[in-house]
Amino acid sequence: MDFSTSNTINVQTIEESRIKNVDLSNIKFGSIFADHMFECDYTDGTWKNASIRPYGPISLSPAAKVFHYGQAVFEGMKAYKDEQGKLWLFRPEQNFERINKSAKRLAIPEFPKDLFFEALNKLVKLDHHWIPEGYGNSLYIRTFVIATESNVGASPSNLYKFMIITSPAQSYYTGEVRVEIAEHFSRSANGGVGAAKAAGNYAAQFYPTNLAREKGFQQVIWTDASSHEYLEEAGTMNVFFRVNDSLLTAPISDRILDGVTRKSLIQLARMDGINVEERRVRVSEIVEAANNGTLKEIFGAGTAAVISPISAFSYQDQVYELTPQTDSYASLFKKRLLDIQFNRAEDPFGWRYEVK
Ligand code: COI
Repeated sequence: MDFSTSNTINVQTIEESRIKNVDLSNIKFGSIFADHMFECDYTDGTWKNASIRPYGPISLSPAAKVFHYGQAVFEGMKAYKDEQGKLWLFRPEQNFERINKSAKRLAIPEFPKDLFFEALNKLVKLDHHWIPEGYGNSLYIRTFVIATESNVGASPSNLYKFMIITSPAQSYYTGEVRVEIAEHFSRSANGGVGAAKAAGNYAAQFYPTNLAREKGFQQVIWTDASSHEYLEEAGTMNVFFRVNDSLLTAPISDRILDGVTRKSLIQLARMDGINVEERRVRVSEIVEAANNGTLKEIFGAGTAAVISPISAFSYQDQVYELTPQTDSYASLFKKRLLDIQFNRAEDPFGWRYEVK
């Protein structure tokens, strides 16, 4: 093993990569992890002991607060390799800002910016050979913070662990996505944690999503908790509705995640002269648009899938099928975003970040 300390991070590399045992052309999203991981502990009021070491299990007390109170936040990002072998991230400062915003909401101490970027650069460079060849493929980067103090008192932890693990990901294809509009369950509420990437937000979706699956729908479109009259998010993604040639999406609030893909898509669409309305979208207007033929598309936008087209939705036990569009905005914006991420197109807003 090679041990070295560069700047602030202690680096311990693997003796032999596990990659030879992995078929990078056939991977299930989020199931395989690259050779190394980053770890940093919060003790005595500061982040310390930053290290990169071989990917592997960590040891925690069964009383660690994360297990009991879910004090945990995360981020999802991706690293891309272009045709010249250069490595890129997409708007990583947005993820940095958001993980600290989420952390603040969960009473978790903020993580320092220089260490975040140093860790990302080092880890991605070290494991760049885990990025599967091919357009759309990437190294999915999962950064997360967990409360590690061994104490089941219901109060914020005094100890935390910040980690980064990475996972090779093929171009995300979800197949046909049929969704059910939520009429009873909610993802978030005013004053809640919906805008944070809190681990528990995702766990809370599993049960209602399972019920939707039993009825033949892969995901749920979440509506506002108080009236269930307004459309908010789709599964783990922000959601867009194309009515005629306008794009409608819910405005950012403390119930809705400020998605990086969402805001990037809005900027690109407006640059293209497309009318984008960030406003409350009523379920009834989407049902009406489906009935009168003006609802052209629905799609989710998020880091993992980039854009995920929705082929049908159900509301009050009625199913509305969407007709595939030849000039689909979902396909157009997926390509626009991927072309920027893969350094194949101009980057008008300076979103690409080269890993060096
Ligand atoms: C995303 O696509 O933004 C996500 O957070 C997906 C993740 C929950 C797998």
